[in-house]
Amino acid sequence: MSERRPLDRRSHDQRLREHVERLGAEHPPLRVDDVDFTVRDARVLDDRFGHVLDYMARVELEVDRNVLELTAMLPDPPEVDRHFYADVWQPQEVQHGRILDRLQVELGRPPAVTDTTSVGAKLRVLGALAHLDAFQDVVRMLYYLTGMSTERSAVLAYNLLHDGLLELGERAVAETAIAPIKRQEPGHYAFYQLSARGLWSTLAPWQRWLVRRLRERSFGPVGVNDRDQLADFGDVMNALAISERADDFVRQVTRVESELLWAHRAGLGVPGYVVRAFSDAVELARARAA
Ligand SMILES: [Fe+2]
Ligand SMILES: [Fe+2]
Repeated sequence: MSERRPLDRRSHDQRLREHVERLGAEHPPLRVDDVDFTVRDARVLDDRFGHVLDYMARVELEVDRNVLELTAMLPDPPEVDRHFYADVWQPQEVQHGRILDRLQVELGRPPAVTDTTSVGAKLRVLGALAHLDAFQDVVRMLYYLTGMSTERSAVLAYNLLHDGLLELGERAVAETAIAPIKRQEPGHYAFYQLSARGLWSTLAPWQRWLVRRLRERSFGPVGVNDRDQLADFGDVMNALAISERADDFVRQVTRVESELLWAHRAGLGVPGYVVRAFSDAVELARARAA
């Protein structure tokens, strides 16, 4: 598994391009006006899932910052990457954010507080190094790994939120807000997975080594930039009952990452840095509540 086995480059690039074209054609950005915001019981809905909506709205709206981070991190991306994040991914995610934010405002909550402009110093350093082609591939690999784990988390979380809303009898928003959003996430995940597999197969041993080290140091759950947000994420895990089945959740979120990066350590299972990040989130949420 650790030897380099480049995929058939041309057919891989072709598949990736077709995938992005299909996503753009089949999934135009959702429209807020198409959502039926009728709720049965705003108080109960807010109590159960208000903070979940707020968290997800923030993360979705912060894609504007993610695009700035990407341009800092990857000064010279392949055309298919740029096409994906600028023309397909960003327009879709922003609409997810607007719909979720509107829903929480309908419940009487304040809109999400977002940071759409600050790009961290660490990313700028990566970006400076990425002017060297061999290093840019390392940075790109980290970008795909982050994309895979965040999009997979989104798919799973929206499924749980959708079911939770139905349980509360909130059919209108489950079916006209969350269901359409969750249908757009698997295509994002597929893009990152295809990209990650393609790039990993071309990396030299030193690049793979560096990817593993940097990933161990930089992994964080989706939308977490500081300890407060890590505790917020713990609250989301509790509200969606992810904390009760965290092992399974983490396994699904990192399935391909474990396979690509850590297969040479047979039987390692889920990477320790991922397990730690998720249990820290639950622990911090508990400490903050107490
Ligand atoms: Fe999204
Ligand atoms: Fe997404």
